[in-house]
Amino acid sequence: MAKPIYIIGAGGLGSEMLALLKSFPEYSVNGFYDDKLKKGDLVHGLICLGSTDTLCTCTEPTILLLAIGDPLTKRNVIQKLSGNSKLSFPTFIHPKATILNEDTCTFGKGTIVTAGVVLTTQIKIRDFVLLNLNSTIGHDVIINDYCSVMPGANLAGSVQLYNSVLVGSGANVLNGISVGENARIGSGAVVTKQVLPNQTVVGIPAKPIG
Ligand SMILES: CC(C)(COP(=O)(O)OP(=O)(O)OC[C@H]1O[C@@H](n2cnc3c(N)ncnc32)[C@H](O)[C@@H]1OP(=O)(O)O)[C@@H](O)C(=O)NCCC(=O)NCCS
Repeated sequence: MAKPIYIIGAGGLGSEMLALLKSFPEYSVNGFYDDKLKKGDLVHGLICLGSTDTLCTCTEPTILLLAIGDPLTKRNVIQKLSGNSKLSFPTFIHPKATILNEDTCTFGKGTIVTAGVVLTTQIKIRDFVLLNLNSTIGHDVIINDYCSVMPGANLAGSVQLYNSVLVGSGANVLNGISVGENARIGSGAVVTKQVLPNQTVVGIPAKPIG
């Protein structure tokens, strides 16, 4: 029998994760948790069961998928829920993602790899990472907790993303670059130099803003 699963976040990404879960018949989606909706609201054809605060006090074993793209929001939600050992977050790798050398790649809990993503070899992906549609991840890349790599972004070999980095859609991060904690890379940027923690960089070549 399919196991019940709930999605945290009922926005556009939540709707895409509902679609992704169609490829995992061992799970059946029973509803959403969302801080911006009211308990009982209908969303994407399912019910909202309450806010993430509800999950802090949940006493039944509960399987969840975190459908939040913004790394800092992800981190805050997970830190809030970390006291409740009843909650679990499986790893999802879509069957249409490609991992060229599977034995050498590792994926942490709550990490989601969507359709069309390509990973090559010797890659470490830690917890609650989102690798979104058609992104490519080169050899020896390390991606730390809460990072989100948006559609069509490319990380070349030996890139390292520290915790909670956002890589915008279509961005390119060149070989061996490290990107500091909480940094954001704008859509379409080409990152040619190290990015400092908390920095936002945009453009070609990418330069800091703000
Ligand atoms: C880089 C980013 C994080 C900055 O967000 P922000 O802090 O809200 O920045 P703002 O939108 O206020 O923009 C600040 C300035 O940077 C410019 N800018 C923002 N993003 C840019 C980008 N990707 N490329 C070039 N310039 C950009 C804006 O035009 C603005 O310039 P101005 O001050 O001259 O008007 C965001 O724009 C971005 O690219 N996010 C990625 C989104 C994404 O990939 N979504 C995928 C959904 S599936």
